Amino acid sequence: MARTLIAAGNWKMHKTSQEASVYAEAFLNSVGNFRQVEIIVCPPFTSLPLLSQKLAASPVKLGAQNMHWETKGAFTGEIAPAMIKEFRCDYVILGHSERRHIFRETSQEVGQKVQTALNWGISPILCVGETLEEREKGKTESVVAEQLLQGVDAVPLDKASHLVIAYEPVWAIGTGKAATPADAEEVIGFIREKLSQKFNRDVAQKIRILYGGSVTPENVFEFVVKPEIDGTLVGGASLDPGKFWKIVEETYRASQNK
Ligand code: PGA
Repeated sequence: MARTLIAAGNWKMHKTSQEASVYAEAFLNSVGNFRQVEIIVCPPFTSLPLLSQKLAASPVKLGAQNMHWETKGAFTGEIAPAMIKEFRCDYVILGHSERRHIFRETSQEVGQKVQTALNWGISPILCVGETLEEREKGKTESVVAEQLLQGVDAVPLDKASHLVIAYEPVWAIGTGKAATPADAEEVIGFIREKLSQKFNRDVAQKIRILYGGSVTPENVFEFVVKPEIDGTLVGGASLDPGKFWKIVEETYRASQNK
């Protein structure tokens, strides 16, 4: 079945809102009314108010990079779902490897966030992926399955198709060493199989599964042309509006060749 491909940019801790404004102007000039690929920009929280205005009339969607599983309360430094929803976030990245490894988020916490996001009508971009050590020990599938199944544990069948999963091998993130398209396709096929067992085949066929890790305008085509890969989650290369637009264009070109 044809799933709409996604090009999602994760800015991580980059760009002030002033820099985001300059980016938005340049990027929107390229995007115009292009809707063949779903484009998602995930800036730091501080740029959401400005970008929600600048992007309002465009096809570009907004995502946050994290949120808390509770809806309000004494959680100093955290952000609630209503606070990102207020600024038109249709998506939220959850369980990114930097959150798991630097900030010690557990799969169980990520699962709580996934559930809360869906309750608020925000689609989670749930990130999963193994470290180099885990890959070398042959543990890729068990690690990915654990992160995935705990992440979607409390997701009801009727909301499951709103999930987006990103397979991001930790060793490929920010290293310039992307996975091979064949390896990414294999793990993503495995993820779809697990989703099919957890939900059902129809639902699993609707869930978009992305690849992330050192995606560039030069290599994106080879990934997204693969039948199981429904787009990319892009860090470094999304920080430049010209490069990110090229990634969108290449994603579209691949969609014509699938
Ligand atoms: P990268 O980051 O494209 O810079 O490797 C990807 C990510 O962390 O989502």
